Amino acid sequence: LFLGLLLVFGLAGCGSNEIVTNVGELDFEQPLKIPELLEPEILEDGTKHFTLTMGPGTTEFFPGTNTDTWGINGSYLGPTVRVSRGDQVSFDVVNNLGEVSTLHWHGMLLPPEMDGGPHQMIEAGETWKPHWTIDQPAATTWFHPHLHGNTAQHVYRGLAGMFIIDDEDSEKLPSEYGVDDIPLIVQDKLFTSDGQLEWDDDGSYGLLGDEILVNGTHDPYLEVTANQVRFRLLNGSNARAYNFGFTDGRSFQVVGNDAGLLNEPVTLDRIMLSPGERAEIVVQFEPGDETILRSYSGTAGIESGEFDLLKIIAADELTESEPISGELSSVPPIEVPEDAKIRQFNLTMENDINGKKMDMKRIDEVVAAGTTEIWEIHNFGPEHNFHIHNAAFRVLEVAGGEPKEYERGRKDTVFIPHGASVKIVVEFADYTDMEFPLMYHCHLLKHEDGGMMGQFLLVEPGT
Ligand code: C2O
Ligand code: CU
Repeated sequence: LFLGLLLVFGLAGCGSNEIVTNVGELDFEQPLKIPELLEPEILEDGTKHFTLTMGPGTTEFFPGTNTDTWGINGSYLGPTVRVSRGDQVSFDVVNNLGEVSTLHWHGMLLPPEMDGGPHQMIEAGETWKPHWTIDQPAATTWFHPHLHGNTAQHVYRGLAGMFIIDDEDSEKLPSEYGVDDIPLIVQDKLFTSDGQLEWDDDGSYGLLGDEILVNGTHDPYLEVTANQVRFRLLNGSNARAYNFGFTDGRSFQVVGNDAGLLNEPVTLDRIMLSPGERAEIVVQFEPGDETILRSYSGTAGIESGEFDLLKIIAADELTESEPISGELSSVPPIEVPEDAKIRQFNLTMENDINGKKMDMKRIDEVVAAGTTEIWEIHNFGPEHNFHIHNAAFRVLEVAGGEPKEYERGRKDTVFIPHGASVKIVVEFADYTDMEFPLMYHCHLLKHEDGGMMGQFLLVEPGT
């Protein structure tokens, strides 16, 4: 009871106790922005080369008001990068922000020194040149800064973008970018009365905004012209979780989690994503349909609040494609090895992991590259989530029970309900590096910046 009281008191104390809502307040007057698809330059050896330039700008979220923002190749958010499994890629990441930053490839399997975490700082005015071969199943990944202790504000001001990987399986799904394959980057914001981004992260979860942007669009609508549309949902918020559904009660097919396609589609009418998580859903439309994508209120904390996100209007004539069915992914589910190494992680109210706060000079765990382990994450506080770099995992158990239907595929970030334990089977990438560690952490950015993060090395098995 005492712990319960403490929790209630703690949650009430964070100032977000009243349920925030925008339902009925939007007019859906602005066309949804679709991030530009970035064209690569093809180098002599076939490498796809991309340039991403981070810099300041102004964005008109509200017609007639210029908001100071940061963006990548533009004033807010970044372009979409899209490549195929097997591609060699290279990047010029140019930092014109006027201060140090980094760019991390969230969800990517790659050599640790290309990861873009806190050890790969890009000083003001400098260019970082990572390169690797895409060697993982189709997935909706993303990129964002990952500075030691200072990620939250960099992401909040607008530095993030989507990174899509295709393979033979994913190409069978609707794939025409901006037509029947549409990114939806969902982020909550606080604005001052004169339309500037406001920063208030005093609450225990960090910043929880009351205005929601989708792809950097406020008050958005989207006209669709296909009878089935794949939406790639990305929760790019600092702390808020969204429980997505449609106001007309329509269901949708979940076809992918963070790190890959599901083995077969799951039909649902709600899907919850915490910060950093992604899902691919396929929605069917009839000509003339109108519906609103809404986030429905969950229990408390980061799940609370009800928000209209996007009005979707189907054209009077729709291009038709065959309904999705059967096997989606030929990648078998991640299995538990008989002799799996088991590690325990305790997340506490003090925002540390196993009693320690992030230290860039300390290695917390050493993992044999290319192996599969069981990680058990125990949450002794309010809601958190857990993300692991350079790995894909499958959720085995949440609070002693089965995971939700929508979180049974390949993932890299998982919601940890308050007071609960989550057990996952983790497949680590097959890259070794004795110098550059990788991270595991809570993806609530205030917690991450506050030190709820640890470092692991991927080493040659047997060392
Ligand atoms: Cu999306 Cu370690 O981060
Ligand atoms: Cu957390």
